Amino acid sequence: MPQQYWPNQWIFILAAIGSAAGLGNLWRFPFLVYEYGGAAFVIAIVVANIVIGIPLLLLEVALGQMSRHGAPDAFGSIKKSFRYVGWIALFFGFLILTYYMVVVGWGINYFVDSFSLAWGNDTSGYFFNEVLQISDGPGTIGGVSLSVFLGLIVAYALVYFSAWKGVQSISKVVVWTATIPFVILALLIVRAVTLPGAELGLSLYLFPVWSELLNPQLWLAAFSQVFFSLSIGVGIMIAYGSLKKENSDIAGSTIWIALGNFAVSIMSGFVVFGTLGYMALSQGVPVQEVVSGGPSLAFVVFPAAINLLPALNEVVAVLFFGAFLLLAVDSAFSLFEGIATAFRDRFPTQAIKKISLLVALFTFLGSLPFATHAGLYFLDIVDHFVINYGVVIVGILQAIIVGWLWKGNSLLNYVNERSNFKIGTAWQFAIKYAVPLFLVVLLAINIVNEFRTPYEGYPVWALLYLGIIPIVLSPLLATIVETLTKTEADQIEE
Ligand code: PHE
Repeated sequence: MPQQYWPNQWIFILAAIGSAAGLGNLWRFPFLVYEYGGAAFVIAIVVANIVIGIPLLLLEVALGQMSRHGAPDAFGSIKKSFRYVGWIALFFGFLILTYYMVVVGWGINYFVDSFSLAWGNDTSGYFFNEVLQISDGPGTIGGVSLSVFLGLIVAYALVYFSAWKGVQSISKVVVWTATIPFVILALLIVRAVTLPGAELGLSLYLFPVWSELLNPQLWLAAFSQVFFSLSIGVGIMIAYGSLKKENSDIAGSTIWIALGNFAVSIMSGFVVFGTLGYMALSQGVPVQEVVSGGPSLAFVVFPAAINLLPALNEVVAVLFFGAFLLLAVDSAFSLFEGIATAFRDRFPTQAIKKISLLVALFTFLGSLPFATHAGLYFLDIVDHFVINYGVVIVGILQAIIVGWLWKGNSLLNYVNERSNFKIGTAWQFAIKYAVPLFLVVLLAINIVNEFRTPYEGYPVWALLYLGIIPIVLSPLLATIVETLTKTEADQIEE
């Protein structure tokens, strides 16, 4: 099969921004800003981008471009046994994809609802009881909820037809999915900041509580946020890098990706804080009482805020959930492509579309538990463990492999020969020392916290089966997949 490439460097950059900018920017970033001292947290995010985010992003893109393979064989090109690290990364990517798709499915429901503001006045009841039909705990599964299931099918259709031909179809889609959100967010900012009371929210955003910078929790949150937001540690940026032309620039494009992603976070902050300020004023309560993060920010608080708008409610609703879907869909298909690339490496004679279909069907099955009445609990637990442990462990392994274990490491020269500015000791220092050190500390503190208080008070069995066991078993799964997909040439060589 002929090697496929991004048509040009900008398409690669857009695809990577599309992957990075997603729900992490829209609902995770603003909430963390609120929690951790407003603009002080924004500063921490900039630092975390520089210290760990950009160095690791550059590592992944460069390794992909240099090896021309997805994560397993990219690491395998350094040393055979490092392939397992690639499969482990993809396994965590797979888990993220299974539940991320369900969230896209909720988004589809809400996008349709936007045209008639179908959520009514009790937006909380609507989300939890009508859409999710949530059960009373992770032990009560109670079947699949129909609207979520239908949304999920549409979500899979969107993602599948965006990614089915690999880079060929993705290149066409990202031109829209990675650009339109900027336009919509700009429109929503204009609407949000001109609402009465917007300044009540914006002041929480823009004024830094400097003392928060001394809070270790702020730094933990900033490091994990940057990790999640840049889509690091799940093999995506390696796969996307492997599709770059041999001599295309690396360092410059990495900076563009980080900047684009940061811009989406900052813009989302204006939309969210402006809107929350208005909502607080209209209801005569402090902003603290209307704020929320994660799913309920988008699906409970925002619909309620939209109901309160003086005019054009449906238009704002369609724009908001339109941006939500666009942001989420290209993050989802990047995860898909990360996985599909690895299997294409292993089965180069199989048709791309066939591999895509199999990956989609398999992931769809993995999504079903999250579409049940206990789905939100499952999602919350799996997300917590994969994000706080899984990808962090992969990040540490990547840095140790490239920084310490790679004999005759030529990545730095490779990058410098292809970049319009030179990276050098700073990057090496980050990969060798800063990244492993910060991430190990992050991991250790997370583990201690975990033992102190079970996450969100969930029963221990649920945390064990949905969170801890998948992480612990990931090397075993990696071994199984590696054995099943090993090529014949490899077996003879060994
Ligand atoms: N970066 C995406 C976001 O911010 C989430 C994501 C993480 C996507 C990891 C793919 C892989 O929403």
